Amino acid sequence: MDNIKIGIITSSDRASAGVYEDISGAEIRKIMQEYLLNEIDFKYSLIPDEEELITNEIIKMADEFECDLVFTTGGTGPALRDVTPEATKKAIERELPGFGELMRASSLKIVPTAILSRQLAGTRGKTLIINLPGKPKAIRECIEPIFPAIPYCLDLMNASYINESENAPKVFRPKNK
Ligand code: MTE
Repeated sequence: MDNIKIGIITSSDRASAGVYEDISGAEIRKIMQEYLLNEIDFKYSLIPDEEELITNEIIKMADEFECDLVFTTGGTGPALRDVTPEATKKAIERELPGFGELMRASSLKIVPTAILSRQLAGTRGKTLIINLPGKPKAIRECIEPIFPAIPYCLDLMNASYINESENAPKVFRPKNK
């Protein structure tokens, strides 16, 4: 079974200043451990909402650490300090708009303010990068609907092979490809 490298980037002015604990990054880690049977090598970074820092961190996770998957959390809304989608756009080579579309569509059934999240996703080399909102509850609500397409996405990118657990949302891998 492949080892999977997962980068988690929490962008939060307050969490990075120690005002509160980063429970969002911990939530992503917990969900991945729940969904994947593979051994996971986590790379973690807690940084303020600075566009350049976030872009550089995503690039480092992709190019230096060779992560298969990178999740960012926070900074996707319309607040003045929310710059994660802009930073992500500068780090990715190709956008995968379906991820953001599905996360917003399914979250809208839960909370009307889901429309405020500008979250996006894309690829850089063999790395899939996905923006998640900052709230732990929102993180689970967003990962759940998109997870079924993530393993096949990594297959197509020649990244590591995900072996999902029975606790994961049902994964779809088209057979003849
Ligand atoms: N998506 C889900 N599933 N659940 C939520 O509670 N909160 C929304 C939205 N998406 C939310 C959600 C709110 S209130 C905001 S402002 C945006 O995500 C952006 O959040 P962020 O700035 O923490 O990324």
